[in-house]
Amino acid sequence: MSIAIMTSGGDCAGMNPAIKQFVDYCFTKDVQPYLIYDGLEGLIDGDIKAATYEDVAGIMHEGGTKIRSSRSKRFFEYEYRKQAFENLQKYGIDKIVILGGDGSFRALNQFHKDFGVNFIGVPATIDNDIFGTEYCLGVDTALNIIRQATDAVRDTSSSFKRACVIETMGRDCGYLALVSAITCGAEVCIIPELDYDLESIGNRLKDELEKGRKYIVCIVAEGCNHDKCTSTNQLVQWLETDIGIETRATILGHVQRGGNPTVFDRLMASEFVTYSIDKLLSDHIGGSVIVYNRSEFQFVTIEHVNSQKYKIRDDLLELAKRLVN
Ligand code: F6P
Repeated sequence: MSIAIMTSGGDCAGMNPAIKQFVDYCFTKDVQPYLIYDGLEGLIDGDIKAATYEDVAGIMHEGGTKIRSSRSKRFFEYEYRKQAFENLQKYGIDKIVILGGDGSFRALNQFHKDFGVNFIGVPATIDNDIFGTEYCLGVDTALNIIRQATDAVRDTSSSFKRACVIETMGRDCGYLALVSAITCGAEVCIIPELDYDLESIGNRLKDELEKGRKYIVCIVAEGCNHDKCTSTNQLVQWLETDIGIETRATILGHVQRGGNPTVFDRLMASEFVTYSIDKLLSDHIGGSVIVYNRSEFQFVTIEHVNSQKYKIRDDLLELAKRLVN
């Protein structure tokens, strides 16, 4: 019996611990593990290798993904999916663990419909934007990178009586910005999911500055860089002109995707992968996604994951309400 693992879409910390656990656990189950390199592109091009212990030795603490990733347009075409299937057949692989986001799961679901390859999707994206799961691999590490950066920017902002606007990633989802604002002690949090009132925020900030506030930390989600929201640049302008405080912007960018995986992400990687392998070995499951809710793991269908847009928990949004008024 042969199972393969691949990483697809945006990489994140926690993928390497997942790959290591995949290989080590398969060996304990007398199953030959395979590594598919370069995501769906590598699957099409036959970049597949039988894994050895050596391939995964010493990768537990490393960010990114040793087997690399890609975003594939070719996989939308049947002809390339067929080529990918023929590659798997050469190695007798009929089961795949794929780490990625919902786009990658949809791609493999189509692959399953075409050729019957069983797979389990492990939610892995710093955006934490997959419906049906409270947690996606990599989020804790990304949050800790943001926390470290925000703490550092606060040091210099407070030394200069400045405001800082820190932009986080997350695509359309404000989760990273929201949790960072709550846990880093920000004064302002602008995310697509929360209505905000700039006038009222402005009055509050002016009042606090008059009472002795020395600096201001604002956290903005990259999803706000569109017409209906206040972008990072607009916020900087507003702080300088309307509030009258010198302001600097820090766009954190891809630094949020790297770094050593935290203990939590290493543990989550281990659990996500172990339960996925157990499931693949015990059932003919078709296509399924492993999700994590209220401290429990469960398997759900791709249709379920795709049925709605991810929504941030109301109680978390509630915690940040004082930062939007
Ligand atoms: O989905 C992960 C993510 O890092 C998003 O937060 C961001 O919008 C996007 O990927 C960036 O993509 P790329 O690495 O292709 O620039």
